[in-house]
Amino acid sequence: MSRPIQIAPSVLPADFSKLGDEVAALEAAGVDLIQWDVMDGQFVPNLTFGPDVIASARPHASVPFEAHLMVHTPDVMAERYVEAGCSRLIVHAEACAHLHRTLAHIGELGAAPAVALNPATPPSAVQHVLDLVDLVLVMTVDPGFGGQSYLTSMEPKIAAVRAMIDAAGLADAVDLEVDGGIGPDTIAGAAAAGANVLVAGSALYRDRDGLDHAVADLRARAEEARRA
Ligand code: DX5
Repeated sequence: MSRPIQIAPSVLPADFSKLGDEVAALEAAGVDLIQWDVMDGQFVPNLTFGPDVIASARPHASVPFEAHLMVHTPDVMAERYVEAGCSRLIVHAEACAHLHRTLAHIGELGAAPAVALNPATPPSAVQHVLDLVDLVLVMTVDPGFGGQSYLTSMEPKIAAVRAMIDAAGLADAVDLEVDGGIGPDTIAGAAAAGANVLVAGSALYRDRDGLDHAVADLRARAEEARRA
């Protein structure tokens, strides 16, 4: 595992009435990138925001933006998310009948393609597209809401995806991201299993010592777990 530990906040718990200030505060707190949870009310039972909202926040921070597309038809608006300032688009393997084509399309748009797996979906679903992506996201909750409990049962799956990436000789090129219930009590398990990009939402905003402390604390716990 050679890719660095990265802390990626989900903006889902942020104050939507001042998203520009919120992303600027996350950047000032030392995050490595920002994840936008796009939900269409179909693929997941929740509805969040589209490319225009993301574009409105783009001028307020310079860290990379990734769009986690929890939508049934990611191809339809992929170009809009790239135009909005997202340098990585994450699509769900479960939503793409032609995953290889969808990932290639995102690459043609000039963004980094990435693929996500719901908790019940096996790692084999992405085995044949590892060479097309710069990141694999293993969901550690069923997508759709923040504040859910981390599924420890996903750790063997995280390890299996890590082994798959390493066996393909892609350890330097492909990140392994986890998302859902990541916080001070769960991040070590995910990092030790092989994740290097850790998405956190509610854990960042409920830290009484503030965002700066929350980000530094999560990063320290993940790096320590990786060294162990
Ligand atoms: C859930 C989203 C997550 C979520 C994370 O579908 O993909 O990014 O917002 O929030 P926490 O960290 O609170 O589980």
